[in-house]
Amino acid sequence: MLSHLALLLLSVSVHALRTPQEWRTSQHILSPSRPDDNDGIHLAVSPNCGPLSGNAVDVNAGVDLKRIKTIVAFGDSYTDGGRDDGGPLSPAVVVPPDAEAGGRSTNGKVWVEHLADDYGATLMDYAQSGACTDLSLWPSAIKKVDFLGQMVTFLNQSNTLNPESTLYAVFFGINDFGDSKTDGEANLQAAAQVILSQLRILASPPTNARSFLLADVYGLGTHTPAGDAMVQTMFSGLYDLSRGINSTGHGEGIDGKPPGPALKVAFAEFSRIWDGVLGADPGYEAFGYVSTDACIVDCSIVFCSTDGMCDDPDHYFYYIPSHPSKEGMRIMADYVEQVLERCIEQ
Ligand SMILES: *[C@@H]1O[C@H](CO)[C@@H](O)[C@H](O)[C@H]1NC(C)=O
Ligand SMILES: *[C@@H]1O[C@H](CO)[C@@H](O)[C@H](O)[C@H]1NC(C)=O
Repeated sequence: MLSHLALLLLSVSVHALRTPQEWRTSQHILSPSRPDDNDGIHLAVSPNCGPLSGNAVDVNAGVDLKRIKTIVAFGDSYTDGGRDDGGPLSPAVVVPPDAEAGGRSTNGKVWVEHLADDYGATLMDYAQSGACTDLSLWPSAIKKVDFLGQMVTFLNQSNTLNPESTLYAVFFGINDFGDSKTDGEANLQAAAQVILSQLRILASPPTNARSFLLADVYGLGTHTPAGDAMVQTMFSGLYDLSRGINSTGHGEGIDGKPPGPALKVAFAEFSRIWDGVLGADPGYEAFGYVSTDACIVDCSIVFCSTDGMCDDPDHYFYYIPSHPSKEGMRIMADYVEQVLERCIEQ
């Protein structure tokens, strides 16, 4: 149920933003505490890099972040920056007793804001707390928002974004998986297909998108065969899109038709972080956490209060239930950056 909560958060200390160069340095020398060390929380796992053909792994097949000037983001509360129309976000600060930092489900910036900051890109965020891929698949969905609706908002704006310098970040699955516990697992495959079909729409006129980043952590540390199969369907679909197979949805590359545009795609499996923090290898302490609990538990479906919150929010993995603290959002961005920079498909 908690994964349905769209949003939430606390008091934010402002840290100097780290540039990608500083990040690389800190990663290489495994530097200990510094004033800007993300309160001591750091990645203690690495991406599992591999090829785009085959089983789902972390991979970057063509996305060049240095060319990216705009990031368009779709997703749920993990990616929701507090508004869903692509416009400028509110400051990521907590004003008690409202635990949400500017409408976010955490106490600071969400991962994709860090990604945009680090590469000097403008973020257009359409993500919505509680969103699934397609409400028609999940009658039990509490929040009536989905990827399809976010696409309506985006396309209705008739944005004129340069395909060569725009990255489309798509991160769904947590709420689909949560709903599947009530509605049944059968539609998880359909959810994966919804994501692929929306990528094809984005790749088509008038948007003509060419660069995509998909992320996943559907089970927040739990794995099921049906969940893994959903991820694998998305991943295998990306391989086809990267080769121009049905890449704008007109059957390109099938039955003798010429291939369509080859899309640049990357895939990041945040489950490595969740498995590492919540499991024994290497365990939460290795990341610098003192607890895997949520700091704030005084939440309704629409509001979380800072009243009675824990004393040490910086070192609790979750800020509000099932939602990482701002430090966790930072290491999610670090993880994606490692995928994009190190998991380059040969
Ligand atoms: C589409 O955009 C127009 C303004 O250009 C706005 O009035 C309308 O509400 C939008 N519709 C949707 C579904 O977002
Ligand atoms: C091609 O894309 C269309 C539109 O997304 C989809 O309906 C169709 O199932 C796809 N065909 C194949 C063979 O993947």
